[in-house]
Amino acid sequence: MNIELKYFTGTGNSLKVLEICNSIFKNSGHATSISEISLNEKSLPESNFLGFCFPVYAFGIPRICRKYLKGLEPFKMKQNVFLLITAGDSEESGFAISECRKILRKKNCEIIYSAIVQMPINWTTSPKPPYPPSKEEAIKIIKEAEIKTKEIAQDILDGTVKHHDFNYPKRFSIFKFYWDYLLFKYLGVQNMWRLFEVYNSCNACGLCAKICPSNSIQIINQKPVWSETCEQCMRCVNFCPKESIYQLQGGDTKGKNKYHEPDYKPKYNYS
Ligand SMILES: Cc1cc2nc3c(=O)[nH]c(=O)nc-3n(C[C@H](O)[C@H](O)[C@H](O)COP(=O)(O)O)c2cc1C
Ligand code: SF4
Ligand code: SF4
Repeated sequence: MNIELKYFTGTGNSLKVLEICNSIFKNSGHATSISEISLNEKSLPESNFLGFCFPVYAFGIPRICRKYLKGLEPFKMKQNVFLLITAGDSEESGFAISECRKILRKKNCEIIYSAIVQMPINWTTSPKPPYPPSKEEAIKIIKEAEIKTKEIAQDILDGTVKHHDFNYPKRFSIFKFYWDYLLFKYLGVQNMWRLFEVYNSCNACGLCAKICPSNSIQIINQKPVWSETCEQCMRCVNFCPKESIYQLQGGDTKGKNKYHEPDYKPKYNYS
């Protein structure tokens, strides 16, 4: 089979999951190609299987993933697709899969398989817990995720048909859950770049600006300045060597664990 794999990642979790699948597919003799989504990409080659892996942000998918999927031209022939979503808590994936499914159906895609893989939470500036785990806890979570992902990859190769259902956090009522999702989707993500700030420890090294996947940071007068294209992916926060980045209104990061997938090395300068 020809298998095309596409991901978006802030801190490496979604790439890790797709790379595990990739190595299983390749070891089974399939031809694969793996790459990051780009808003400039409007059409994808026909393949036997197309796989996506994205993180969940506030019970939905990141804005850039939504835009990317919506911008794709419909496939001429029916395209088989699998969808994987990485979540900080597998019970809190909300609408992430159903959102993708709705968009992809209009693109002549048949979703054969969808699943949630729990990975360490990376939302360091979240206004409330859970926050990122310690390094030791993170390694444990990743090990379990590796086992689950290998099973998923095998399922996909075996032609298993499986669909993950919508779910919402048990600690929320259904209305609170909808409300938080809608607030983040329509008000939060567009505006939360305004809340970024740095502690005095920032030495203007510029790393955050170089690694931002949406090119949303500029260093002006020896200080990072954020802009509205920010996806809230938490890469700048979790990779800052001085742990200087935080958000106003409850997004303090002093003393909190920082997290990125241990093998993940972001590319420099995305623009
Ligand atoms: C802004 C933001 C919102 C998040 N919201 C959720 C959520 O609603 N449910 C959940 O399980 N995890 C949530 N997470 C955690 C991430 O989905 C999870 O850590 C994911 O694996 C990160 O993937 P990445 O490293 O590929 O970016 C959120 C993370 C961020 C940055
Ligand atoms: S990576 Fe950290 S220390 Fe470097 S400029 Fe950005 S905020 Fe400042
Ligand atoms: S500014 Fe930071 S949080 Fe926003 S997209 Fe860039 S790296 Fe991610």
